[in-house]
Amino acid sequence: NTIDLEKEFQRKLDAEEKIEPKDWMPDDYRKTLIRQISQHAHSEIVGMLPEGNWLTRAPSLRRKVAALAKVQDEAGHGLYLYSACETLGVERDDLLDQLHTGTAKYSSIFNYPTLTWADMGAIGWLVDGAAIMNQVPLCRCSYGPYARAMVRVCKEESFHQRQGYEIMLSLCKGTPEQKAMAQDALNRWWWPSIMMFGPNDADSPHTAQSMNWKIKRFTNDELRQKFIDATKPQADILGISIPDPDLKWNEKTGHYDFGAINWDEFWAVVKGNGPCNKERLATRKKAYENGAWVREAALAHAEKRKKKSAA
Ligand code: 3HC
Repeated sequence: NTIDLEKEFQRKLDAEEKIEPKDWMPDDYRKTLIRQISQHAHSEIVGMLPEGNWLTRAPSLRRKVAALAKVQDEAGHGLYLYSACETLGVERDDLLDQLHTGTAKYSSIFNYPTLTWADMGAIGWLVDGAAIMNQVPLCRCSYGPYARAMVRVCKEESFHQRQGYEIMLSLCKGTPEQKAMAQDALNRWWWPSIMMFGPNDADSPHTAQSMNWKIKRFTNDELRQKFIDATKPQADILGISIPDPDLKWNEKTGHYDFGAINWDEFWAVVKGNGPCNKERLATRKKAYENGAWVREAALAHAEKRKKKSAA
């Protein structure tokens, strides 16, 4: 009965055993995983768009190859995550419908424009850097398929972060104009990157429960702080400054103090009023419609093969 099932679920959590698709799980645990994993998948797919803008404009073949590989990786991350989500009993088309109709969220960060090549460096360095901070703990998430998908994603994410940082390093060692481009990109991407971690813990409706269920291993504020502490020294090596006059080392806490985050901007972007929200969703819907013939052909082919093997 349900009491025993709940006890077994809690025992597994306490014993750090993974919850697998066929295991009993509380409805709310299933619901919050579907919510988080599907939005994570949407973020990966929409996340291809800002960088896609620079594939034909990369300054060298080497940069183009690295950018192509990164965008392809994001597509793969999206597919792992939609597959992990389907193990919870949802249909991929329904998830995509939620994205296209605006009922599902995706990461706020992808609603900002990529104005110069330096943005490709800032995205790899900061956005993938933030994603790594958030995704490494997810490798220890209590839900098996999600945790296992994250192991592969994190390996590829560290390549993304390194190639981004290297772009920034080349620019900062380049001409004064190139260094100014890098500084301009840091100015535009810093605050949206630290907003990626979500609202402050006090304003986060899901964090406490997600920590109890060992979906989250750290809170939004803890991960944000880890990211800031790790990134500030990297900006010092680049010789460019983080656009926060209140950012300063706090000897007592052993962390960087930092300025107030503009939560009005965050919620405006999350609610669909960021610089590129409409364009991003329109592009995704168009890609989905243009790809309908591929899906139909694949299904028709699979049908034919099934009939052939049944004959
Ligand atoms: N963008 C959009 N919505 C956000 C957000 C953000 N940066 N941060 C929080 N939200 C939303 C939440 O989804 C939630 O809304 P919902 O109830 O409708 O889903 C609401 O704001 C309250 O936030 P909470 O912090 O209470 O919600 P969560 O516990 O779900 O925490 C999260 C938010 C930290 C983003 C968590 O969902 C998470 O860790 N998700 C998985 C990782 C992820 O999505 N990473 C970012 C994008 S992936 C990426 O960067 C790809 C890389 O390759 C570049």
